[in-house]
This record gives sequence, structure tokens and C-alpha cells, in this order.
Amino acid sequence: MTGYPPPPGFAARANVGPEVYAQAEADPFAFWAEQAGRLQWDTPWDTVFDDAEMPTARWFGGGRLNVAVNCVDRHVTAGRGDDVALHWVGEPGDGRTVTWAQLQDDVCRLANALTGLGIGAGDRVVLYLPVLVETVVATMACARIGAVVSLVFGGFSADALRFRVADTGAKLLIASDGQFRRGAAVAVKATADEAVAGLDHVEHVLVVRRTGEADVPWTPGRDLWWHELLAAHPPVHEPASFDAEHPLFIVYTSGTTGRPKGLVHTTGGYLTQASWTHWALFDAKDDDVYWCQADLAWVTAHTYVLYGPTSNGTTQVLYEGSPLTPHPGRHFEVIAGLGVTVYYTAPTLVRTFMKHGPELPAGYDLSSLRLLGSVGEAINPEAWRWLHEHVGGARCPIVDTWWQSETGAAVIAPLPGVTVLEPGSATVPLPGLAAAVVDDAGEQTPPGVEGNLVLTRPWPAMARTVWGDHARFVASYWAPYAERGWYLAGDSASVDEAGFVWIGGRIDDVLNVSGHRLSSIELESALVSHPRVAEAAVVGAPDDVTGQRIVAFVITRDDAGADDSRLAEELRAHVALRVGAIAKPREVVVVTDLPKTRSGKIMRRLMADMTAGRGGGDTTSLTDPGSMTTVERAWDAHAALRDRT
Ligand code: PRX
Repeated sequence: MTGYPPPPGFAARANVGPEVYAQAEADPFAFWAEQAGRLQWDTPWDTVFDDAEMPTARWFGGGRLNVAVNCVDRHVTAGRGDDVALHWVGEPGDGRTVTWAQLQDDVCRLANALTGLGIGAGDRVVLYLPVLVETVVATMACARIGAVVSLVFGGFSADALRFRVADTGAKLLIASDGQFRRGAAVAVKATADEAVAGLDHVEHVLVVRRTGEADVPWTPGRDLWWHELLAAHPPVHEPASFDAEHPLFIVYTSGTTGRPKGLVHTTGGYLTQASWTHWALFDAKDDDVYWCQADLAWVTAHTYVLYGPTSNGTTQVLYEGSPLTPHPGRHFEVIAGLGVTVYYTAPTLVRTFMKHGPELPAGYDLSSLRLLGSVGEAINPEAWRWLHEHVGGARCPIVDTWWQSETGAAVIAPLPGVTVLEPGSATVPLPGLAAAVVDDAGEQTPPGVEGNLVLTRPWPAMARTVWGDHARFVASYWAPYAERGWYLAGDSASVDEAGFVWIGGRIDDVLNVSGHRLSSIELESALVSHPRVAEAAVVGAPDDVTGQRIVAFVITRDDAGADDSRLAEELRAHVALRVGAIAKPREVVVVTDLPKTRSGKIMRRLMADMTAGRGGGDTTSLTDPGSMTTVERAWDAHAALRDRT
């Protein structure tokens, strides 16, 4: 293979060398036990792995630890209290540098305050916050007292937030007065209020002052200001120990039905894999300035901002804003200004930068960078090479990390000091992990032939269940290969002659738009809740920048013509209200029929192929094969109109 070997200087200093693969393979459980030993345990485990209740695994049974102690206190105790934990950069240009000791102070104050509010181990706390220091503090304070945290993306609507608050049965919502969105302050407390209205289990709403909104709507007795509460509590707090299987957080993600799934991650196994993979993949060193640019509410940032890097005592950048605000070079300005050494980004962002040309990164001194990462979707080789050359100065390895909300941490990814990189491939499973590409019968596909990606061995950070719906957890991931005990990832993939994995697309009705996972069915439910829509089908069409773009085919209740652009605007606004702005369909096509099977299932695949220019799919299973002709005509007319304007 040609490929990109690790630069010799990098390999020589790398945290992890090639021998780790064989070591881990010889005894994966011993390998994970060794990595768990990197953490501080209050009580050692007695069983590394217990499969008695599979697919709910138990890792490090009998062990007890406190995540906040591991991620914060440990570094202060080790004499690093004055080192920088976080370089926070606010969107309007304000900033804050927070040391480990300062972080510990605030985490302890909030832990005391939460206990004072009656929140205890196992209670749920939902965060609806931008990327703030307070978001990290809140996450750690919850971990410290054993409360289960669920972070909701600040761009989600009141409806989407309400679903998550209700589903978790949260006692507390932590929100902000407002958020900055592309340079403008937007009030959000009213949205938070709407989300919790009538939900009796929500006892308090704790409000972080961020934008300084005037006239923040207030419910006396229920609502509390963050700054007042913290000031009223001492910065010293005695942490308790929690069982290795105590739930740590719930992360919601889209599946194949309208209801997002709340994946439950637990304490010991999750932190072990988060910590080791961060250390190994990002070659974490004490003098690094590490920046993972994902919003804290996505799983990427749970593992590679909130828990992994903090467990390793890594100095991090936290950036509040949108990447292109106030100008497209903002990220490069931050890298140059703070001397960022490791930058973990997403293909969609790389492709956005590419549109501005290599002059954009060339305008900044990016010489501090030594390692780059990518996540969220397969990175196309062209974007990989651009990132490598124009951002990484041809000297930085790129770790393309494949994983999911369900896996909790990276699974298929290179080791930067070891692996010869192939642009576009996430390479091979990390040490201790095992994957395969198989057909529906479970037989391995020949090299180069696509099949279903499965994980064939349990891993410590695996999700344990879907909150409140264990049957769905089993049915979605474990039932398809139940006899073999394999986990079905939901992605297609192929393996080449060298054993490298190439991830294809999703095999289910999940879209990937700018690395965000959205469900066709959830978007269709949002669309049909609009009074003018009778039926809807949502597909992902290929897009140069966002990977996929959302195209909605709708049958209207009235006689809106195909060129009714007002309807498109109305529906976009409606979806934004029901789900969030990231879910707005880019294109709305009015049709009079939709292709359906005899059992009434919409054949989205046919429409997706059509939008990708791959027509001529098999229509024999349709009730009315002519329905696809109708849709094709509407699509052609729509495309002609779109391309003219
Ligand atoms: O389709 C894969 C894609 O993102 C899905 C997981 O989405 P989510 O749970 O939101 O987690 C995203 C960040 C970990 C996967 O099923 N995906 C993620 N990373 C990659 C990827 N596809 C190809 N290559 C990747 N590196």
C-alpha cells in the first residue's frame, strides 16, 4: 500500500507503539483491566467482564470510583492545580482561562448546591446550554454526586428539549438566559420554560447568565440563578464512590423510529475506554493544547472533551461559537492564538474551509499543530489530503475515528504513531476491539464487497441500554445477530485486502447531515404535523459540503403547486420549531404519490437513489410502480427550477 506512514519524529515520541495490538489481542480483558488501572479507583473491581446479562455488559464489577475525582481532583492532588484545564473562547471574543484548581472549586460548589436542592445519586439533570465553562462544571458536578446528566444541543427546539426532559424524568434543567448564534444574542429561557411547562418532575430550573438578556421570564421558587447559587455554597465537597455500572449520562440519538433513543452509558468501563482512547489516539501529552470542536451536547464531545481529555489532565480549548463567526478563519485564528497542538474536527467543516481555498489557513501560523482528527462521517480522500496539506502542513497524522453514540468511544481508528494512513479509511479496530463486515447470514464478505459492519467482541464503553426501553436496545442492535452475540452498527462497510475498513452509508433510515444524525421518520413526523401536509418522505441526497442534505417529498392536503416556495418556507420553519434548525429540509418537493410497498412502507431508498442520480432501481415490490414515475417527474421539474434560480 502507498499511504502515509507516521512521521519518524512523531512515532518515536508516541504514547503507543505497535506492540499494543498483539498484547491486547492475546488477552483483551487483561488489556482493558490494565487500562482501567490508569484511573483512580476507591474500591478495586473483582470481575473485569461479566456477560451474564448480555447484551447489557457489566465491566469492572465490584469496582467503585468517582468520575469527577478522576477528571478534576486527581490533577490538583498531583500538583497541577495551577495548570490550565480550559481555554474558553466565547463567540463575541470574550474568553476565560480556567485552572484545574478553579474547576475543582466550581464543581464542588455546584455539587453542594445540587445536593441542597435535593438531587442525589441516580436523579436526572438535563443541560440545555451552549459551550461554556459552566457546561463542563455542571457535567462534573453531576458525576460527583452520581446524578445522571443528559446534554441537549442548544439549537434544539422547545419540543425536542421537552421530549428529552420528559423521557429522562429530570428533576432539574440547567439552561442559560440566552445563547449566541452566529454573532447574535438569542433569548432561550422562554424556550426552556416552554419545554418544562406542566412537567411536575422538574423541580428547578437553574439559569446561567450568558447573554445578559433583559427581562428573563422567571418563575419564583422554581428558577434559580447559577451565580447566586454557586456563591452561596462552599468550594469543598466530599465525593462519594459509585459502582462501576452506575449510570453516568444519557445521550439521545436518532434511530429508525420517530422517538430518539436515550443511550445509557455507565461509569467504570466508559471512563476506561474514553480515557485510554483519548490518550492513545490523540497522543495526549501534558504540554498539549487539545481542541475538539464538537458541541458539548454531541457524543463526540462527551468522550473527547468532557470525560476523556479531562481524565488525562489535558489542557483543552472550548469554543462557544459557530465555526465561521465572525469570519471563516476563526478556527485558524484560535489555533494560532492559543498554540493548539491537536485539532479534532469534522469532514463537513473541512469541506467548508476548502470552499474558501488554501489561502484561508495559509493566513495563519498553524505550526503548533502536530496531530489532526476527523469524526462524524467518512472523510472523502480529497478533503483528507486538503486537511493534511493545508492545515497540517503535511507533517500531522490524521486520525479518522469511526464510532457512534452507542459505542461510547472510538472503535475503528488508526494509532497516530503506528498506522500507515489511507485517506478515506478509518483503518482498523483499535487494540482490544474487533469488528467484521458480514452479510445478512453473518458470513464475512470478500475483500472490497460491502456488507453490514458488526462488532464481534464486547467493549468497555458500550451502551448498556436505551433509557426506559430495553426491548428497543435489544431489537435495534443485538437481535439481528443474536446467535453470534454481535452488535449491528447500522453502517455498511467493506474491508480491503489489507484489512482496512472503509465505511459506506447507513443501512437504515438515518441521515447524516454535517455529521449530525437525523432520522427520516422523525423528520417525516414533524412534517405531517403541519396542517397542510398529508404524507411525507424524507431522504438524504448527496451534498458536497454537508455530506447529505435533507430532501422532503410531501403530499399536500390542498392543491399547492410544485413551485409553491411559500410552502417550502413554511415547512422549513415548522421543522425548525418541532425539531431544530439543523433538521430543516434543504429542499421540499410537492408530489401527488409516494412509492410504497404492499405493506405500506415508503421506499425511501428509491427516492434517495434518484436524488443521487442513480435511477432505475427495482420497483417490482411497489404497490403501484407508476408512483415512482410520478415522483421522478416532480423531482425533475423541481431540480430544473432549483438550478435556474
Ligand atoms: O454512520 C457513522 C457515522 O456517524 C454514525 C454515528 O453517529 P453518532 O452516534 O451521532 O456519533 C457521531 C460521532 C461519533 C456512524 O454510525 N460516522 C461517525 N464517524 C465516522 C462515521 N462514518 C465514517 N467514518 C467515521 N469516522
